[in-house]
Amino acid sequence: MVAENGNKPRVLSGIQPSGNLTIGNYLGALKQWVEVQNDYDCFYCVVDLHAITVAQDPAELRRKTRESAAMYIAAGIDPEISTVFVQSHVPAHSELAWILTCMAPLGWLHRMTQFKDKSAKQSQDSIGAGLLNYPSLMAADILLYHADLVPVGDDQNQHLEFTRDLAQRFNHLYGETFTLPSVMNPQAGARIMGLDNPTAKMSKSEASENHAIFLLDDLSRAQKKVMRAVTDSHREIRFSDDPERAGVNNLLTIYQAITNETQEVIEAAFADKGYGDLKRTVADVVVGTLEPLQARYYELMNEAGYLDSVLKIGQEKAADIAQDTLKLAQKRMGFLAPS
Ligand code: TRP
Repeated sequence: MVAENGNKPRVLSGIQPSGNLTIGNYLGALKQWVEVQNDYDCFYCVVDLHAITVAQDPAELRRKTRESAAMYIAAGIDPEISTVFVQSHVPAHSELAWILTCMAPLGWLHRMTQFKDKSAKQSQDSIGAGLLNYPSLMAADILLYHADLVPVGDDQNQHLEFTRDLAQRFNHLYGETFTLPSVMNPQAGARIMGLDNPTAKMSKSEASENHAIFLLDDLSRAQKKVMRAVTDSHREIRFSDDPERAGVNNLLTIYQAITNETQEVIEAAFADKGYGDLKRTVADVVVGTLEPLQARYYELMNEAGYLDSVLKIGQEKAADIAQDTLKLAQKRMGFLAPS
């Protein structure tokens, strides 16, 4: 099975609708999704079925799902080029996930570090079984579309390995059915750290005020957060993996991820500058990124019917492909076809 759309390899990725996306989510994921959309046949979904592996408030989940989809488009994903859809709108995801759940060895699932981390924080009686089966659902997302490439952060590599192993197992038992996907590496330096604590990944759930820049932050607030970022007592402005210099490195990384310039060019440009200049320049490019994104976002959210029509078209395109793959998998496994 080969993904076909002209000769373009297929890309699939998703983000949970957990709301409040940060500039880390944008630079680590969304920006890359935008950059590859002309060269690949891209499918981007809002993974609401994954979100319910932990408790969600129904009204909030609905709101955040729409907001996430709007954010994909505001960030530059063009729904005329890429397919944007909501995971639960395509029932084949749940159906293939069940088949894969039945095939996924418990040992593999228990070895997933994300499951170990998330489940360690709760008692056995409050964790839903969906948290353990999360990787099988993610595998279904990817395999339904015969995705060749999956742009994800390092923390998802293990889930991608799992997807490949499971696809191989299925193909071996029932015949060639699924395409084995590869990770699409994020461009160097797309891992953005907290501004107040540059040795921890920027996270939307971190409580402290100066930790994360949210995509919908007031522009003046975003600027202040950059100006207050932790640096160090050195002087040179250079990329570095020294933990003591993580703050400056993080600011440079943000700058590089936004401008796409090389490290050499950036270091040369800051060679005779101070930390104040660095922060002002980074604040400027951050604001320059957020401003048009926010304008598009609010325009989209205020245009009645537009987002829903995009999601409906996305659903139809996605369901067409997903349904064919699901049927094939069901047939291979021996399900009686309905007459
Ligand atoms: N697990 C991914 C994350 O937390 C989200 C996700 C769900 C995903 N399904 C996917 C990513 C399919 C890529 C492809 O980031």
